[in-house]
Amino acid sequence: MPITSTRIKTKDEYFSHWQKAHEVPQDFWAKAAENFQWMKPWSKVQSGDFNDLEIKWFEGATLNITANCLDRHLETRGNKTAVIWESNDPNEAPIKYTYKELHAEVCRFSNVLKDQGIKKGDRVCFYMSMVPELLTGVLACARIGAVHSVVFGGFSAQALAGRIQDCQAKMVITCDEGFRGAKTIPLKSITDEALESCDTVISVLVRERTGGKITYKEGRDHSLLPLIKKASNDCPPEEMQAEDPLFILYTSGSTGKPKGLMHTTAGYMVWAGYTFENVFQMEENDTYWCTADIGWITGHSYITYGPLLNGSTTVMFEGIPTYPDAGRFWDIVDKFQITHFYTAPTAIRALQACDINLVRKHDLSSLKVLGSVGEPINEEAWEWYNTEVGKERCPIVDTWWQTETGGIMITSLAGVTESVPAHATYPLPGVNPVLVDGEGKVVEGNPADGNLCMELPWPGMARTIWGDHKRYKETYFSTYPGKYFTGDGARRDAQGRYRITGRVDDVINVSGHRIGTAEVEDAINEHPAVVESAVVGYPHDIKGQGIYAYVILQPGQEMTAEELTPQLNELINKIIGPIAKPDIVLPVSGLPKTRSGKIMRRILRKIAAKDVENLGDISTLLNPEIVDEIKNGAGL
Ligand code: PRX
Repeated sequence: MPITSTRIKTKDEYFSHWQKAHEVPQDFWAKAAENFQWMKPWSKVQSGDFNDLEIKWFEGATLNITANCLDRHLETRGNKTAVIWESNDPNEAPIKYTYKELHAEVCRFSNVLKDQGIKKGDRVCFYMSMVPELLTGVLACARIGAVHSVVFGGFSAQALAGRIQDCQAKMVITCDEGFRGAKTIPLKSITDEALESCDTVISVLVRERTGGKITYKEGRDHSLLPLIKKASNDCPPEEMQAEDPLFILYTSGSTGKPKGLMHTTAGYMVWAGYTFENVFQMEENDTYWCTADIGWITGHSYITYGPLLNGSTTVMFEGIPTYPDAGRFWDIVDKFQITHFYTAPTAIRALQACDINLVRKHDLSSLKVLGSVGEPINEEAWEWYNTEVGKERCPIVDTWWQTETGGIMITSLAGVTESVPAHATYPLPGVNPVLVDGEGKVVEGNPADGNLCMELPWPGMARTIWGDHKRYKETYFSTYPGKYFTGDGARRDAQGRYRITGRVDDVINVSGHRIGTAEVEDAINEHPAVVESAVVGYPHDIKGQGIYAYVILQPGQEMTAEELTPQLNELINKIIGPIAKPDIVLPVSGLPKTRSGKIMRRILRKIAAKDVENLGDISTLLNPEIVDEIKNGAGL
């Protein structure tokens, strides 16, 4: 049967669409791409594979993603609300943009970028809090063909500098300060510090938000809002090639410095648009709110591009879930009559631990669909979300995906396929997951356990690591040649539904933030008293995983954990940012090592998890005696 619409409406349709996308991907994605507006059509739907890694989608086509997010809706939805911005301060009036207003605002911002000398292909770095100009600025880049690279406002000056240097950004857009609950973050002064070691940046635009005292560097720094105000709202979209870069987003991996994943224009657009439409199943007058920060991939694909590509109303929130109190999320749901609510398990668990009346006193009857993203959701949190927030009448979509995948990969479809507690469930059409054992053999049949890989390219996948295609190849495609390795473990149940069990590499997921243990170790090792360290994740009630650091001190250094912790925190704050601070620091005299000198992290993970009943075979260790010493030190 030919597919007439790419909107999946029944479970049977889901299976037939998946099958079609599997058997004739070129036809399937050509059909899905018809939902978008192209300047020139493609000559080939897809080329390249996981061996050559020259993956291209919609080659030959030209387009502009903002023409699809904005211009395309002007005739039919010009006066519909596109974006609702809610301030950190509940007493400050929200800002609403209709599609017409958003279009004009993005055009004005685009002209500001052009006036500052930004051209197609230039990289623009954003280091902002969740102000409206983060969203309009990202779109302005896309409109003129500049490549945006958003750095989360919680990273340090050094981390920001590393990213600016890596992508050789020509401009940084920041705020004077950012509001974050009762605190303010000195974004401009952090930017100033970062820029001391970045020589590619010729201009800095500052969105004044708090009115805090900052300094402007003559010739380099400009106040953003007055420039936007006086700019023309006429800016035709730049014609982009399908595979032109759209953005770079940095994320942490097992080793080395953060990787700048590069996403390209056409494939990402089709994926963000298609997945948003099918996963959330919005209707025309629904209001959608994703609580993520635009500094992460979720905010790119599912605050900005996905909803706007679908002509939906998207809410953007500046603040945090616990300010002014832990009822803020529910207050906002009530205030804007949110129908679709998408958040992270860590937020659910944190709010679950608060006074239940903060939820119950709000009217949540507008809600139709709930979503979860960023980390495995435990059953208890899932049940609470379902009962207390969804009142047992809202399907929950547990969406598994990654910065690398560009958009959602494995999930139920709201109200179409079943939600199963703690299970992401089914792969979307175009997603071909396999489970692979330690030897690289595909585990067939159901149920099954293994490392989660993808067998075939999908439109939204990152095409490379900026400036380092070799690293891209090695990181994702060398563990299991010919397959994309996600870094996650998973279980497939008897019905073929996936449950993601978490990372199987040296990446930890703290409150939904992806942190490379090697990065934290490198930071700790900068401390003059430290010889070596090993960082592992351990189960944490609220954060999902906490950070546990085992630290070997220089001979003669007799520091206790209490003395060492604040010093390491300060160092990590400086090198990475507060999100990477360890929860537990344990000074040790040695680390369990194999005869080849490799740290046996399995043992350290078990000790951190207080799971020391069965530590497995430690006879191959160079220093088996250290295990008891570490256990004692950990109070076990
Ligand atoms: O371990 C998986 C976890 O988050 C990782 C990707 O992190 P990041 O690139 O920062 O993107 C987060 C937002 C998409 C994955 O490798 N993860 C993400 N979603 C889920 C998840 N783990 C379990 N269930 C999920 N729904």
